[in-house]
Amino acid sequence: MSASVWVDGAQPYEVVVGPGLTTRVAQAVPEAAERVLIIHTAVLQREAEALRAVIADAGRTAVMAEVPDAEAGKTAEVLAFCWQVLGRSDFTRSDAIVGLGGGAVTDLAGFVAASWLRGVSVIQVPTTLQGMVDAAVGGKTGINTAEGKNLVGAFHEPASVWCDTDYLATQPRNDLLAGLAEVVKTGFIRDTEILGIVESATPALVAAPEAPPSPEVVGVLTDLIVRSVRVKADVVVADLKESHLREILNYGHTLGHAIEHVERYSWRHGAAVSVGMVFAAELAGLAGRLGEADVARHRSILGGLGLPVDYPGGRWDALLAAMRRDKKARGSMLRFVVLQGIGNPVRLDGPDPALLAAAYAAISR
Ligand SMILES: NC(=O)c1ccc[n+]([C@@H]2O[C@H](COP(=O)([O-])OP(=O)(O)OC[C@H]3O[C@@H](n4cnc5c(N)ncnc54)[C@H](O)[C@@H]3O)[C@@H](O)[C@H]2O)c1
Ligand SMILES: [Zn+2]
Repeated sequence: MSASVWVDGAQPYEVVVGPGLTTRVAQAVPEAAERVLIIHTAVLQREAEALRAVIADAGRTAVMAEVPDAEAGKTAEVLAFCWQVLGRSDFTRSDAIVGLGGGAVTDLAGFVAASWLRGVSVIQVPTTLQGMVDAAVGGKTGINTAEGKNLVGAFHEPASVWCDTDYLATQPRNDLLAGLAEVVKTGFIRDTEILGIVESATPALVAAPEAPPSPEVVGVLTDLIVRSVRVKADVVVADLKESHLREILNYGHTLGHAIEHVERYSWRHGAAVSVGMVFAAELAGLAGRLGEADVARHRSILGGLGLPVDYPGGRWDALLAAMRRDKKARGSMLRFVVLQGIGNPVRLDGPDPALLAAAYAAISR
C-alpha cells in the first residue's frame, strides 16, 4: 500500500510513499528517455544494481555513477565527474537522471540534472528520512564549496519522488531520529497533529535502536512522511504566489545552521535544528508570543526522541558571527522564525540582542 502527495506548480509532480517502491521507479522514467543515469553511493550499491536491472528490463540504457558518500559527494569535482559520465554516454535533453541516496545524493543529482543541457528530468529516490521529508521534495538542489555548504545550486523540480520506506530498515537509528527533528518542525509550524503522533509513538521510535524499526513503527513513519511532505508541498506551492512563506520551513534553522558551522559539521543536521527549535521557542517565550507549556513541549518532544535540547554556554559570540554570515541573513540583520502559538509561525527580524542572549542563556548548560 502506498500513499501519494501531489506537489502543484507549473509542472505538478507526485511524491509516492510506501514499501517496495524502488522497482516501480522504472515506470516513472519519461517515455522519451533512452538513457538513465543512476547516481548513488557505495553504501547503496546493491539497491542501485537492482534499479539498474529493472530500468534495463524496461528497455532503457542504464548508466551508473557511483559518487563519494555524504557531503564528500556534494563537490564541484564530483559534479564534473557526473557531467563527464553524461557526456561520454551521449546523454541528450530527453534522457533522465535518478538520484538514489540520502539528501546529499538527491541534492547532487538534482543539480546535475539542472545543469546538464540546461535541465533534464530527475527522479528522486531518497533513502533517508531526512531525504524523504525534506531534501528530495521542493526543487532545491546544489553542492558545497570550500567556503560553505549549499553555496552553489539551482531550483530544479523533480519529475517524481519515490520514498521507499523499506530503506528505513537499514538507516542507523540515530540518523532516523535526527530526521524526525524535521518532521517535528513541520508539526510545530503547520500540521500540529504530527506532534501528538510523535508523542504517542516515541517509546516505540526509540526502542531497540540496533534492530530495524518494527512494522508498527514503519507504519507511523509512513504517516509522518506523508504529513510532512504535504506540509512542505503546500508551503512550497504557496511560496510561488506569496513570497517568503517558504521561510517558515527554516524554523529552528537560524541557530541550527550556526551550531553546525561552529561544530564543523560534526553534528547531525537534525540535532542542530533540535537545539535551534528550543532556542526559537525560548525566544518566542521571552517575546511574549509563546506560552511556557508550549516552550516546555519543545523540550519534551525533542528530548524524548533523544535529540539535544541544550548547548554549551560561552559560545554565543561564535554562534552570533555564524548567524550573521548565514546566506539567509539580510545584510547583518538576523532573521528568525518564531511561533505565535503552536502551528502559527511568524517572522522575527532583528530581535533585541538582549533577548537573544537571554534565549541563549535559557538553552545553555
Ligand atoms: N534540498 C533541500 O531542500 C535540502 C533539505 C534538507 C537537507 N538537504 C541536504 O541533505 C543532506 C543531508 O541528508 P541526509 O541526512 O540524508 O544525509 P546523507 O545523504 O549524507 O546520508 C547520511 C548517511 O546515510 C547513508 N545512507 C543513506 N541511505 C541509507 C540507508 N537506507 N541505509 C543506511 N545508510 C544510508 C549515507 O550513505 C550517508 O552516509 C545535506 O547535504 C543537506 O544539505 C537538502
Ligand atoms: Zn533542515
